[in-house]
Amino acid sequence: MLRETLKEQTFPAHQKTEGTVIRKIKKINNEADYIELLKCFYSYFNAVEKEISPFITSAILPDLDKRRDASYIKKDIEELGGSISDLPPARVPTITNSLEALSAMYVLEGSLMGGPHIIKMLKKRGIERGFSFFEGYGENSKTMLNSFMDTLNKEGKKSTDTDKAVEVANETFSNFGNIFESLSKVN
Ligand code: HEM
Repeated sequence: MLRETLKEQTFPAHQKTEGTVIRKIKKINNEADYIELLKCFYSYFNAVEKEISPFITSAILPDLDKRRDASYIKKDIEELGGSISDLPPARVPTITNSLEALSAMYVLEGSLMGGPHIIKMLKKRGIERGFSFFEGYGENSKTMLNSFMDTLNKEGKKSTDTDKAVEVANETFSNFGNIFESLSKVN
């Protein structure tokens, strides 16, 4: 199944991204710092969503309009008194078909699993609000993630060549990490 292939073959990329995000969270001391973190998430998630949107229709993913998207991050930024101006620049993988689009979306949807851990770390840093994105679908997160994975596996069955899917997912992880790196060079 494609989900298992992606999970196995993007494991190092996940570890690296997780480490980058954790390092960034450990430097958060106030809401202004948290807004900067959210701006990285917003810039990237919004850009990837735009790139995949021609291929992710409700015919492929019937509950598409119920899914969490970058607008949740915008809402959190605004709740904290920030705005989505001056975003760090995002470079996203080029997507040419629905399998590649779902493979990039695998990374965005999978990030739901990190959400509760991220909220815990933020609370330890004194942050108390602006969590709608990291809360994901609350107690339904696992169910929503699994239903996405069913779609991914169904689409994966149509193709014997999963190399490109793996490549896109890995690129989706690594390009996300790059946003934080470009930020640390400035700060
Ligand atoms: C502090 C940061 C993070 C932590 C602690 C974290 C933790 C986790 C955990 C515990 C899982 C479940 C693993 C399992 O089921 O065995 C997971 C899955 C996943 N995470 Fe993260 N994560 C973090 C950040 C991210 C980010 C930023 C992304 C993407 C941009 C991401 C993408 C994924 C994906 C795609 C999966 C699904 C793997 C699968 O079940 O196929 N994670 N993460």
